[in-house]
Amino acid sequence: MKAAITATAKYLPANILSNHDLELMLETNDEWILSRTGISERRILKDPEKATSFMCGEVGKQLLEKRGIAASEIDLIIVATMTPDMLFPATACLTQSIIGATNAWAFDLNAACSGFLYALNVASGFIENGIHKKVMVIGADKMSSVIDYTDRSTAILFGDGAGGVILEPAKEEGYGILDTRLYADGTNGKDRLLMTGGGSLNPASHETVDKKMHYIYQDGRQVFKAAVTSMAEVAGEIMSRNNLCADDIDYLVPHQANQRIINATAERMGLDEKKVVSNVARYGNTTAGTIPICLAELDEEGKLHTGSNLVLVSFGAGYTWGGVYIKWQ
Ligand code: UT7
Repeated sequence: MKAAITATAKYLPANILSNHDLELMLETNDEWILSRTGISERRILKDPEKATSFMCGEVGKQLLEKRGIAASEIDLIIVATMTPDMLFPATACLTQSIIGATNAWAFDLNAACSGFLYALNVASGFIENGIHKKVMVIGADKMSSVIDYTDRSTAILFGDGAGGVILEPAKEEGYGILDTRLYADGTNGKDRLLMTGGGSLNPASHETVDKKMHYIYQDGRQVFKAAVTSMAEVAGEIMSRNNLCADDIDYLVPHQANQRIINATAERMGLDEKKVVSNVARYGNTTAGTIPICLAELDEEGKLHTGSNLVLVSFGAGYTWGGVYIKWQ
């Protein structure tokens, strides 16, 4: 039996960082940001006491409430993140503690912007094999914790946020997560989008702080090119493997990094604009959070019906990328 999504939820911090706010901090302007990225504003988790696990906890509590189940029924929690509260213990264990899922085991998975699709695939395996009945998958990133707000090339792009789902066995054959393709290319990706400080290669020291090694570095142009090509290719692959034409697809749910990347992917798929989910204008790039946040919004808006065909695609640091085909139950 395939795995199906039985609940969705999202959490976005209330504090807004707009393009106009950034104009006061950096040599940039609303027109440049909007035309190059499609982003108008992003959310920032301001409270220094709160980190990624807080957002995961908010998502987890909502998921339990929406599904109407007790925390003790959750078998496994996977948190996809590249901004864990700490290197260890896993943010998934902190989340387990917040929501009181005492019977769950829990671990983090890091595939950057593709983290949610990777985690969805890992979680699906446990459902398909009959090992687990209820798995919580959360994608969450506090990107503001790794952004240099004096670097205009990255500060404008990212925001904080989290989204998640509960996965359970599909009620009927032919529904749920029907196909997944995941990829990685460390050879071309490893130097293009990274944070060099704080790991075992460059443990935190005065020097790593002075050299700003605890912030994101991105070769924007190269990542942009790779993202456009890879997301379009994997979307095409998902369509042809599942005999889907543009008319069959109800929604494309792409990773939200840049509206131009989203448009290029949709164009390659031959999709009408209204089938393309986009909230990058409001939240920027929340990394592992983007896709589950989009799913939660579609769900809240009542747009997901039995039989709806969704194609999810992502691209991120690593490089990592992938596509997923879901027939909504
Ligand atoms: O989620 C992970 C995947 N990440 C992505 O998908 C991001 C991929 N990359 C991008 O989205 C784009 O490359 C960016 C939005 C980051 C940059 O857009 P671009 O069209 O590739 O601009 P660019 O980096 O080629 O820079 C063009 C110019 C440069 O000036 P010069 O060298 O031409 O004089 C930059 O210095 O724009 C300048 N620039 C800015 N100007 C105003 C860079 N950032 C800014 C800024 N405001 N914030």
